[in-house]
Amino acid sequence: MRAKSILVSLLATTLICSGAFAADLSIASGDTGNGREFLRKQLDRFEKETGNKVKIVAMPANSSDQFGQYRLWLAAGNTDIDVYRTDVIWAPQLADQFLDLTEAMKDVVDQHFPSMIQSQTVDGKLVAMPMYTDAPAFYYRKDLLEKYKKPVPKTWDEMAATAKEIQEGERKAGNRAMYGYVFQGNAYEGLTCNALEWIKSSGGGQIIESDGTISINNPEAVTAVDRAKGWIDTIAPKGVLAYTEEESRGVWQTGNAVFMRNWPYAYALGNGPDSAIKGKFDVTTLPSSKEGQSSAATLGGWNLAISKYTKSPEEAIKLVRFLSAPEQQKERAIEIANLPTLKALYDDKDIAAAQPVITNWKPVFETSVPRPSAPTKVKYNEVSSMFWSAVHDTLSGNGTAADNLELLEAKLTELQGGSW
Ligand code: GLC
Repeated sequence: MRAKSILVSLLATTLICSGAFAADLSIASGDTGNGREFLRKQLDRFEKETGNKVKIVAMPANSSDQFGQYRLWLAAGNTDIDVYRTDVIWAPQLADQFLDLTEAMKDVVDQHFPSMIQSQTVDGKLVAMPMYTDAPAFYYRKDLLEKYKKPVPKTWDEMAATAKEIQEGERKAGNRAMYGYVFQGNAYEGLTCNALEWIKSSGGGQIIESDGTISINNPEAVTAVDRAKGWIDTIAPKGVLAYTEEESRGVWQTGNAVFMRNWPYAYALGNGPDSAIKGKFDVTTLPSSKEGQSSAATLGGWNLAISKYTKSPEEAIKLVRFLSAPEQQKERAIEIANLPTLKALYDDKDIAAAQPVITNWKPVFETSVPRPSAPTKVKYNEVSSMFWSAVHDTLSGNGTAADNLELLEAKLTELQGGSW
């Protein structure tokens, strides 16, 4: 009996001295597609390597819903969640609730694109480590463009005309469910991304410029939102007003859309064994308002932050290091087409062979448009929600773009209250 307890305490001391603490960790994660199963697979490996256990706390895929829940948990000092997967735009708003990772990650930060580390740094504090970056693609059906002898559209109007022609042709040929274009039109963060692209690619600025100037109320922005209004219930289903990424992908992947705006994750799934459009599509950059006007891609991406209420900061750091490391990012790129945040992986032959979209997408995310989260700091969520509401109202026929953007400008000015 005595010998046994000595043995147990000896064992415990050895474990503590070797730093081999085993913790029960939780990671809050909202995933699209098969992202959750993929994450589980990597976590299983982490568990084996470190002796820790990690539970996934499943969050809604909708970024705005996730943000609301995180904010409640963090405000309440929730100790059940150790690691949060965070959207690229959240750093300034949640910075106070997360641990500073500067020291713990100082040997690895240089491997990442500097802009990505910078986007997660608030007043010198590294709030989160990049897990993957995101920049949208314009998905098109190669087979249908060929059948109707149409080029890949370069402007929004060309896109709408081709979408209409093919939609009508395919419906006549028997596919009643065919639509021309699907995108993210629900009233949430995804609509902010889509509408920012329509506006920026029409020369209408980026809602709030990097110096904090509110620029949204301008004729180009009005034209861009009106143009999108014209797509609803014509080339896009009326239901697009409730679509997030996954609903758009659902229509697209069952073969019922000519074009789609979505993030690169849909590329891997579209070529999956159970996809109706496997091998029938390709991607390019989104259209713009006219020849010569550059197109725009909103910068997205996800990161890993550690709650300051965690009871296991050291093990949580190990988990964040693991999930943001080259091996895991490479696997993530190859299997689910998430864009790495590590520079070296863009020269990786295995990634280029498995997911050519990734290598091709480097110039796209390098020139992508940030949402105005840096200039608006802790007010970003409100800014975005006012913006997507004004756009959603217009798309739903609730006021004109001119009226809604003018009203939005007034609301933003009030929210700004002198300075952001
Ligand atoms: C993607 C992007 C993210 C964005 C979201 C909007 O998940 O990575 O940054 O906020 O889509 O729906």
